[in-house]
Amino acid sequence: MGLELEENFKGFLSGWSSIVCMSWVIKNKISFPQIVTNVKNTLHGFKKLHGRAFEDPYIQAERAKLPYELQKMPNGSVGVKVRYLDEERLFAIEQITGMLLAKLKETSESALKKPVADCVISVPSFFTDAERRSVMAAAQIAGLNCLKLMNETTAVALAYGIYKQDLPALEEKPRNVVFVDMGHSAYQVSICAFNKGKLKVLATTFDPFIGGRNFDEALVDYFSEEFRTKYKLNVKENPRALLRLYQECEKLKKLMSANASDLPLNIECFMNDLDVSSKMNRAQFEQLCAALLSRVEPPLRAAMDQAKLQREDIYSIEIVGGATRIPAVKEQISNFFCKEISTTLNADEAVARGCALQCAILSPAFKVREFSITDVVPYSVTLRWKSSYEEGTGECEVFSKNHAAPFSKVITFHKKEPFDLEAYYTHPHEVPYPDSRIGRFTIQNVGPQHDGDNSKVKVKVRVNIHGLFSVANASVIEKQNIEGDHNDTPMDTESSSKNQGRDDELDKMQVDQDEGIQKSQAEQQNQGDEETENAGSEAKGKMMMQDKLEKERNDAKNAVEEYVYDFRDKLCGVFEKFITEEDSNKLTLMLEDTENWLYEDGEDQPKQVYMDKLQELRVRF
Ligand SMILES: *[C@@H]1O[C@H](CO)[C@@H](O)[C@H](O)[C@H]1NC(C)=O
Ligand SMILES: *[C@@H]1O[C@H](CO)[C@@H](O)[C@H](O)[C@H]1NC(C)=O
Ligand SMILES: *[C@@H]1O[C@H](CO)[C@@H](O)[C@H](O)[C@H]1NC(C)=O
Ligand SMILES: *[C@@H]1O[C@H](CO)[C@@H](O)[C@H](O)[C@H]1NC(C)=O
Repeated sequence: MGLELEENFKGFLSGWSSIVCMSWVIKNKISFPQIVTNVKNTLHGFKKLHGRAFEDPYIQAERAKLPYELQKMPNGSVGVKVRYLDEERLFAIEQITGMLLAKLKETSESALKKPVADCVISVPSFFTDAERRSVMAAAQIAGLNCLKLMNETTAVALAYGIYKQDLPALEEKPRNVVFVDMGHSAYQVSICAFNKGKLKVLATTFDPFIGGRNFDEALVDYFSEEFRTKYKLNVKENPRALLRLYQECEKLKKLMSANASDLPLNIECFMNDLDVSSKMNRAQFEQLCAALLSRVEPPLRAAMDQAKLQREDIYSIEIVGGATRIPAVKEQISNFFCKEISTTLNADEAVARGCALQCAILSPAFKVREFSITDVVPYSVTLRWKSSYEEGTGECEVFSKNHAAPFSKVITFHKKEPFDLEAYYTHPHEVPYPDSRIGRFTIQNVGPQHDGDNSKVKVKVRVNIHGLFSVANASVIEKQNIEGDHNDTPMDTESSSKNQGRDDELDKMQVDQDEGIQKSQAEQQNQGDEETENAGSEAKGKMMMQDKLEKERNDAKNAVEEYVYDFRDKLCGVFEKFITEEDSNKLTLMLEDTENWLYEDGEDQPKQVYMDKLQELRVRF
């Protein structure tokens, strides 16, 4: 598709700045063309059109605002009409994003001079199953292997944590950090607990319908109204003029963030050959946006409530996303926490950086330090079951809000016949999506036991690495096994608390967490090892000494690794302005050599060797 695609789809990347391929780690920057030329053919802001029906009220509201044309696909989903190779064409939203991803893949490949297969794509943490599946489909269209759909806020948290060298040790009290991300079209908050080498999301909250663009919109509405009375112009009827006004308002908004005095807005040849001009200052702007600004606090409060933390428990508040540059937004956040906010992270690139790091961690082709991430389920999920032959339907919440993810659970049913399971979001009003159903699953090949009793059916449900819910597996447990089944005990305890009063019914259901299973297996193993236990106690002292040495050795190795990453980071950041490109290239090469050494000859060296290496680096850089 090559060049044509590039011509016709210029501006594609805006709104998707958080997509990134592996290359990002190495190359560091994919620039996102922002020039808007061909209004109707320039697509932007289509991320949130994913996975929704055309009739969805959100889509209908967007449709009125977007300069390009949305149409209904044969299956009811959203399509975009564009002129492509001189022809009107209708593309599914998955295809559109697929093309964008393919373009990014190509860009990365030409920058890297090697093929790129794997990627990590960020999505807002509030994306539902349907939206996530639709983004996955786009990746597939682009021929990319999506290793993970990553929540934007979690990507930011990873970008923050992975380079931090002073995180509390594993057994210490974690460091709680609040991340506030107000981007172009959404507002997300998360609270994460950090220890060395790991992060755990404690809570996420969001307002999916507020972001930088709402502030632009407020300005556009204001000036449209002013131009209507002042110049008798109907801006909203003219897509090109409207788009220009949007751009100018966005600029003005940025200027007002830096300068509180009256600032001019001038557009030449705006409409009907007229030049227009006006002005505004920050105080007026804040007044105009008072309603928007009042929406900053509620998600912050909700996140703190869900994480059950007090303000004193918060170590720092990190803000990212373009709209957090608005002074009044910053002020709201800082007032809420009674604390200065910090801007350690690059507001525009933190998400992309986090994705790239995650990709590198997940990809076998890449060597980066491990960093463990535990995310949370954004909405509670309930499973409802019924079978057409037997009496009895029932339901049970399988994942509660903020439950750790990814995660699997095994649920036990007692059934004589095949049955259906329907998964849906427990609290539809909390989900910014009109359909609370997630999916329907049929458990087949279930019959009564030979004595006519119910069969025990174990069904495995999971929320996977992409945040997708599924019924992963089901199996019938043969009756004779039941007596000897160790796993029963923890399961029954679990279920009695969840299914009180229903225990005797045919339709009994038990929830058992993977952790539980692992534990009971581990217990069995311990029993088997009993004989060797006594002989071991003498060896223990020796082992502990060994452990300590091994840890020191590892720390020394990590220090070298950290130095390399940290320095590389600075090369593209704070140092960038101060050194020549030639020097920068030379240094990058040396860092690369060191990194390679670490994973090859330097993989397994005594502590002293690492210390010498670090010294050598320090002298050179
Ligand atoms: C609808 O069709 C389009 C293209 O034909 C496809 O990409 C999309 O995944 C479909 N959506 C659903 C919900 O099946
Ligand atoms: C703010 O903008 C005004 C008007 O353009 C200009 O005169 C003034 O120098 C600016 N102030 C700062 C601090 O940039
Ligand atoms: C974040 O992503 C994970 C997938 O890694 C998913 O399981 C989880 O539900 C998501 N969390 C939020 C808050 O969206
Ligand atoms: C499904 O469960 C059965 C029994 O627990 C197991 O043998 C099988 O490997 C599982 N299959 C998958 C795909 O997990």
